[in-house]
Amino acid sequence: MSIPFIDLQAQRAVIADKIDAAIASVLEDGRFINGPALFAFEKALGDFGAATHALGCANGSDALLLSMLALGVGEGDAVFCPAFTFAATAEMIPWTGGTPVLVDILPGSYNIDPAHLRASIEMIEQQGKLKPKAIIAVDLFGRAADYPALKSIADDYGMRLIADSAQGFGCSLDGKQPLHWADMVTTSFFPAKPLGCYGDGGAILTNNDDWAAQVHALRNHGMGENRYEHVRLGWNSRLDSIQAAILLEKLKIFPGEIIARNAVAKRYGEGLKKSLRAVPAVPDDGTCVWAQYTIEHDNRDALAAHLMQHDVPSAVHYPKPLDQQPAYCHYPVGPGGLPVSAAASRHVISLPMHPYLDEKTQNKIINAVNGFNR
Ligand SMILES: Cc1ncc(COP(=O)(O)O)c(C=O)c1O
Repeated sequence: MSIPFIDLQAQRAVIADKIDAAIASVLEDGRFINGPALFAFEKALGDFGAATHALGCANGSDALLLSMLALGVGEGDAVFCPAFTFAATAEMIPWTGGTPVLVDILPGSYNIDPAHLRASIEMIEQQGKLKPKAIIAVDLFGRAADYPALKSIADDYGMRLIADSAQGFGCSLDGKQPLHWADMVTTSFFPAKPLGCYGDGGAILTNNDDWAAQVHALRNHGMGENRYEHVRLGWNSRLDSIQAAILLEKLKIFPGEIIARNAVAKRYGEGLKKSLRAVPAVPDDGTCVWAQYTIEHDNRDALAAHLMQHDVPSAVHYPKPLDQQPAYCHYPVGPGGLPVSAAASRHVISLPMHPYLDEKTQNKIINAVNGFNR
C-alpha cells in the first residue's frame, strides 16, 4: 500500500462515528448558516486559543483580509511579511489597497527575520512613500515565529501585528499562543492543515472588541446590529454550520494530535540526524504543531526522485520565494534582498507528516532518506 503524505482517513477512522453524528445533527437542525454548531465551535475555539473572540470565516485567506480591513489597512500602507511562505499571506495585502514588503527569513526556523524586518521598515520609512502599518508573521510549518521580538518591533514603530497561523494553529512559546503578542491571529481549516475541516474554512482570534465587531460585520455583507442595515462594505465570508460541527469534534482530539505529531517529529529527528547536515530543530521553549516535517538537501530534486522510486511521497514547500513569482516580483523587498529565502526554496523537501504515522511506515521513510545519502 502506498504511503499517504497526509493520512486524513486515519484520523477519520478514529472519530468517524462522532463526525457522522455531528453532521447528522446539523442536517436535522436545519440551521446551515449561523447555526448553533457555529457558535459552539467559536466558543470552544476561543477557549482553546485563549481569545475573547474567535470568529469563523470562509477560509484562511479571507481571515487575513478580514483582519487587515478590521485593523484599518488600506491605500498607502506597507504590510511586511516573509517572502518564504504560501502565497496567500502576501496575496491578501493588495486587496486592501496596501503594499506587501517582502522580508527574509531566519535559516532553521523559516520564520520572518526580526533584524531584516526592522531594516525593511527603516528602508520604507526613509523612502517616505508608504506608511509602515502592519506585520504579518507566519508560523511556517507549524513553528511559532519570534513573537516577543516582533511585538517589540511593532510597538517601536506603532504598527499592528497579525499572526498567520494557518500552519501553526496550536503552536506556542513559553506556554503562550501567538495571540499573547499579536493583535489578531488568523488560521485556515483547509483539510490538510493541523486543524482542518472537510472543505474550506478559516477563523480569526482577537481580544479586541472593536476589531471583532468589524470582522463580524465584514464577514456578513457589512451588516450592523440590525439585519439589512449595512454599516460598511463587506462580503460573504462565513463558516458554515456543518464545517463548524466537524471542527468541534476535531478540536476535542487536537491536543492529543499535537502530542502525536511531536512524537513523529522526534522519531524523524533521531532517525535522520546522522545522515543529514541538520534536522528541524525542536524548540525547547515552545510547542511546534508540525504542519510539515521539512528537511534540506543540496541535491533536493534527486532525493525527491529517489524517494518516489521507494514509494515515499514528498513535497516542496515552496519551490520559489514570493519575489521570484510573477504576481509578486514587482513588490518591494527588504535591503540586501532575500538570500535565505532563495536558498531555502532550492533545498527544502517535506516528508510525510501526520499524527497517525506509525513507526513501521516511518522507518521505511527514514531508511529511504538515509539510503539516498549513503
Ligand atoms: C501560511 C498560509 N497562510 C494562508 C493560507 C490560506 O488558507 P486558505 O487556503 O484556507 O485560504 C494558507 C493555506 O494554505 C497558508 O499555508
